[in-house]
Amino acid sequence: MKLKSISLKLGLWFSTIFIALLLILGFILYGIFTNFLTDFIEQDLVARGNNHARNLEGQFTKEAIEHAIGMERGVSTRILITDSNHQILGSSIEPNEDMMEQINIKKSFHEGQILENDWQDHEYIVSVSPVGNDSGYVYMYYPSSKLKDMTFVMSLLSLITSLGIMFVAFGLIGILSRLFTKPLLSMKNATIQMAQGQYKQKIPVKGNDEIAQLGNSIQALGEQLQYYETTRNEFLAAVSHEIRTPLTYIKGYSDVLSKGIIDSREEQEEYLKIITKEVNRLSFLVNDLFEMSKLQVGKFELTKEPAKMNDIIKKIITNLKPAADRKELELKGEYKADVLFPVDVRRMEQALYNLIENAIKYSDKGKVTVISFLQNEFLVIEIKDTGIGIPEKDLTKIWERFYRVDQSRTRKTGGTGLGLYVAKQIIESHGGYITVKSKENEGSVFSIFLKAKSEI
Ligand SMILES: Nc1ncnc2c1ncn2[C@@H]1O[C@H](COP(=O)(O)OP(=O)(O)OP(=O)(O)O)[C@@H](O)[C@H]1O
Ligand SMILES: [Mg+2]
Repeated sequence: MKLKSISLKLGLWFSTIFIALLLILGFILYGIFTNFLTDFIEQDLVARGNNHARNLEGQFTKEAIEHAIGMERGVSTRILITDSNHQILGSSIEPNEDMMEQINIKKSFHEGQILENDWQDHEYIVSVSPVGNDSGYVYMYYPSSKLKDMTFVMSLLSLITSLGIMFVAFGLIGILSRLFTKPLLSMKNATIQMAQGQYKQKIPVKGNDEIAQLGNSIQALGEQLQYYETTRNEFLAAVSHEIRTPLTYIKGYSDVLSKGIIDSREEQEEYLKIITKEVNRLSFLVNDLFEMSKLQVGKFELTKEPAKMNDIIKKIITNLKPAADRKELELKGEYKADVLFPVDVRRMEQALYNLIENAIKYSDKGKVTVISFLQNEFLVIEIKDTGIGIPEKDLTKIWERFYRVDQSRTRKTGGTGLGLYVAKQIIESHGGYITVKSKENEGSVFSIFLKAKSEI
């Protein structure tokens, strides 16, 4: 039979160990008790035999023998007195075969001693004491049945106490094992719920031991899973939206163009520009997704070549100019310094695109300025806008994957929450870093720091 309940298992283990210990202890105590008792009886028997022998020594007469036998009447011990040839002179009871067994050996003795102490298999414990100089012998008998009765009572008593102790102990073991396993059971239930998709679980654990830590970890894991589940769903919705919008434009304008209904060359070019712009947008979005998946599996490798940062900035500004124009934002570059850098051009373009696109996307008025200048050993690229800004509490979180400040404000603008995450990874993989300063309703400044003395 396979036990499924951990508390039952624990209880059984504890109980088995407890019973085993109790049994061992019982055997030891029983041994000590019976040894102690037989030792006591043997010593008493020899001492009393010796006493009688000493009394008989001076006057080994019939009266003296009768007197000695009389002293042993009405007690549990028996006495038997023989002459030196082991002929019986008197006995406190009619001697039976067991009593005669030792006498019939007819051995001579010079001091008091035990002749038989195997009380389990013989009827008596037997001692012998010589009277004077081989005048006769005093045999003393202690009935084994008495000893057996005593050990029986002792066993019965210890059995009852053991049962009592066991009863209490089982109760305690039951309570303890339930107490130990209770948090484990609630963790089991919590993980079952988590496996069914209810990630956020409350596990009631107290203290700070390993079990409590495990409970807390499971709870934290659930919260993390819940967070990923929610962000994943939002992310998928955002990605499909981001893809659907340019696709609708591309499809609409290319349909119109292919039908040949537009005759004006300018209008055709205008439509083609829109298509190119939307394709570019799609391509940057797909690149973000691609970079994220590469970062995720640790396959993010740069292909560096010497390039001028200002050239990259100029290219992206040209690319995003129409978007800025549409919002009537001024978009300009200020190139105060430049260095030839070993960069992964396509990726650096992606990072700058994400930052400048954000600046345009999150500004409704004013201007977006990209400035490159030298500061100590760094080439700094600042992307400055006069847009809605970022609340203080979100400033550290905007770098996280899928994180978007306030859903309601980003819903209008669209976005997947990947842009800054990817930009930061790209810049850091070039040995640089990026910082942000922002004030709500005033604008934001993102600054990229790249080590100017990087080796090519
Ligand atoms: N220049 C900025 N001004 C104001 N808020 C910004 C700016 N740049 C980023 N943010 C905030 O930071 C969030 C994260 O930016 P991120 O670029 O990672 O994602 P996104 O722009 O929402 O989506 P996408 O993946 O399409 O770029 C944005 O949702 C926005 O709220
Ligand atoms: Mg963005």
